[in-house]
Amino acid sequence: MGKYKIGITLGEGGFGTVKFARHVATGEPFAIKILERHSVLARKFHDQLKREIGTLKLLRHPHIVRLHEVSASQTKIYIVLEYASGGELYNKIEKQRKLSEQEGRKIFQQIIDAVSYCHDRGVYHRDLKPENILMDAKGNIKISDFGLSALPQHLGRDGLLHTTCGSPNYVAPEVLLNRGYDGSLSDIWSCGVVLYVILTGDLPFDANNIALLSQKIVKGDMKIPKWLSPGAQDILKRILDPRPITRLNMAGIKAHDWFKQDYTPAVPYEDEEECTTIGDASVSIKQQTEEYDSTSPTQINAFQLIGMSSYFDLSGFFEKEEVSERKIRFTSTYLPADLFEKIEGIVSTMGFQVLRANGKLKLMQRRKTTLSPRSTPSLLVSAEVFKISSSLYVVELRKSYGDSSLYRKLCAKLSEDLGAYKCQHLQKTHSCPMPLCAL
Ligand code: ADE
Repeated sequence: MGKYKIGITLGEGGFGTVKFARHVATGEPFAIKILERHSVLARKFHDQLKREIGTLKLLRHPHIVRLHEVSASQTKIYIVLEYASGGELYNKIEKQRKLSEQEGRKIFQQIIDAVSYCHDRGVYHRDLKPENILMDAKGNIKISDFGLSALPQHLGRDGLLHTTCGSPNYVAPEVLLNRGYDGSLSDIWSCGVVLYVILTGDLPFDANNIALLSQKIVKGDMKIPKWLSPGAQDILKRILDPRPITRLNMAGIKAHDWFKQDYTPAVPYEDEEECTTIGDASVSIKQQTEEYDSTSPTQINAFQLIGMSSYFDLSGFFEKEEVSERKIRFTSTYLPADLFEKIEGIVSTMGFQVLRANGKLKLMQRRKTTLSPRSTPSLLVSAEVFKISSSLYVVELRKSYGDSSLYRKLCAKLSEDLGAYKCQHLQKTHSCPMPLCAL
């Protein structure tokens, strides 16, 4: 890759691959996230999002993985990141089972430093979990993917639906309930879940069924071990408060006695140069861009490019183990009766016939062929609704038979029109393939 020599794979996921790389001229190590370009450059980019993403270049903090530059080839997008050589916090906890309060507090202080630094700049992570918390050689943390939650992390190499949309265990109740939320307080909730995991080695909210898990999160139904120090118990209880209004905010956390012990705030780096723009492959980028925006600049910058990736992609709704079952779920705030009525209305306009049976809807699209003038079903789908709380429901769609691309269109349409989780932070009106949607 031009000035970088690419090495071993550091991580792999539905989004593509993270590779180790070395800058040929300086020998400096980097991590390069490689995304399939067709999944990124699929739509026109959005002004609001472009502005939002532009702020990422301003993030320079010792506990945040720095985004160095973005480059592209004919088929791929390369996001060049600071290399964190100590691996994931997740692996450290797994190896040690749990961390001591002293070690856990130091890590939590660094997380809070990084997260509050970003919040002060209007950037929210929205997907904080131990897998996104890396470590450097000295055991200091580096949060990755800050502000990058809009990236198409769930799209497979073939552009199909392969991967899980992430764990909902870390999602704040108000995000789940879609009552409008403060990005800072919902990130703080996730930090609280991370702290719980660090200190106990267990998840505060867990269940083997997603509806039950959501209920536990919404009710704040968890147990804090009595063997933790009173201070640790208290800060966990106050952060994992399901009511955002009474939850500890950043100032409250920083003023908490347990947090303050041995606390030396990290000093953010001085602002330096602007982040590098796309260089090598600008011509083909330009061609691609012009397809979507006739007023496109000759060279788009890295953050515009990332911005382009944020649009609705259905892949995030599919859970790995359920792809074969052709089952998707999304949350909705409509009541079941309204949901059924709306689904009927929407699918009728798409040429489906609808049958109600056993509390489910059967959606069928028929196709007439010359060989079979009586018409054969080209797609058969069932729709079911489950209650999570009095204001939140899960719609489950299951394909029994038929054309996958038509099924995906149907799922996209229904989740877009009825889904609860809108990208409020981006002020968009469509559903968003964020972790929560993988319910
Ligand atoms: N895996 C994913 N991102 C990484 C990074 N920035 N450094 C090391 N390993 C990683």
